[in-house]
Amino acid sequence: MFDKKLKYKNEKSKNQPKPTHLIEKWELPAGEILAPMAGISDSPFRRLTRRFGSGLLYSEVISAEGTRRMGDVSIDMARFDEEERPIAIQLFGSEPSQFADATPIIIERWQPDMIDINCGCPVKRFVSRSCGGFLMQDPDLIGNIVSAVKKAADIPVSVKLRSGYRKPDETAVEAAIAAEQAGASLIAIHGKYVRGWKGTVSDFEVIGRVKSAVNVPVIGNGDILSYSGVKAMVSETGCDRVMLGRWACGRPWIFQALENGYPTDDEVPELEATQKIDVLLLHYELMLERFNVPTAVHRMRKHIGWYTRGMRGASTLRGELMRVEDPDYVLNRISQFKEMVLEDT
Ligand SMILES: Cc1cc2nc3c(=O)[nH]c(=O)nc-3n(C[C@H](O)[C@H](O)[C@H](O)COP(=O)(O)O)c2cc1C
Repeated sequence: MFDKKLKYKNEKSKNQPKPTHLIEKWELPAGEILAPMAGISDSPFRRLTRRFGSGLLYSEVISAEGTRRMGDVSIDMARFDEEERPIAIQLFGSEPSQFADATPIIIERWQPDMIDINCGCPVKRFVSRSCGGFLMQDPDLIGNIVSAVKKAADIPVSVKLRSGYRKPDETAVEAAIAAEQAGASLIAIHGKYVRGWKGTVSDFEVIGRVKSAVNVPVIGNGDILSYSGVKAMVSETGCDRVMLGRWACGRPWIFQALENGYPTDDEVPELEATQKIDVLLLHYELMLERFNVPTAVHRMRKHIGWYTRGMRGASTLRGELMRVEDPDYVLNRISQFKEMVLEDT
């Protein structure tokens, strides 16, 4: 059961255990899964969620083409801390050969636990280059990409799918089967189409159809914003794990309550404001450990907004810190803000 005291790794809750799945040489961890989110789910945020019990982690999406050309930016994006294992490095591209060439480079440099193929990104800059969500139009190509990676390296492969490219052409089941037949060990499915998805809600039925169609574990994703939402997705789709994106932003602790069970909302008290600020300070520390100062300071700005949401005086703090480049100043201001919050309680 969730405890308001901040708990970290190894202090597991005592609810019912999650199904276990062996993925080649390792076991899919029990916790629910932080969604890959470019600009958000970087190594510091992943480490933080892992300390609260998140399961398998995914990198932000990385260019297979950039990696195969030995681009420093792409290769460095795949760097992770040992506490993030097991971790999947997610690649995007359009051709099987790009993935096949990139995979051994990533493995030689970082030895990740899995390579994930991004088949869902709806952003124009991906789709217009036949990458990301564009692949949902061609399940055979998805299978060929998985095969190419399996031939290139001895590593588990996963795919992250959407319902299809454009409604009503639902290709998710076909793509999942093609991926499994080509050797994929895990399938994540976001229940929305690539085109015309805005304003729609994640379709649990398609997630359920994918789960019924394959034997490998399936991760359901999309629009889960509460503990009861997690519970509903698991019971309605039969998925093995739930992947959480926007709900986890500014709330890395949600994984703690989910590590071994599916509590309902009223079983899970919110953290105290000062505890949230403590997590923010730890996040800042991890960010400064991983990135250079300007990058760390800029990346933390949106997180400060999320952590302090709803607190008195938070909008003034956010406005002020938007313009500050000195991390010591920012950290001092956040500590002062915590004192103010303490006086209020
Ligand atoms: C800011 C942002 C960045 C994202 N970046 C990626 C990415 O790099 N790779 C990926 O597969 N999906 C990416 N996604 C999609 C998420 O992984 C997830 O599928 C989506 O947010 C739906 O989950 P949610 O409703 O829980 O947020 C991103 C989503 C957001 C909001």
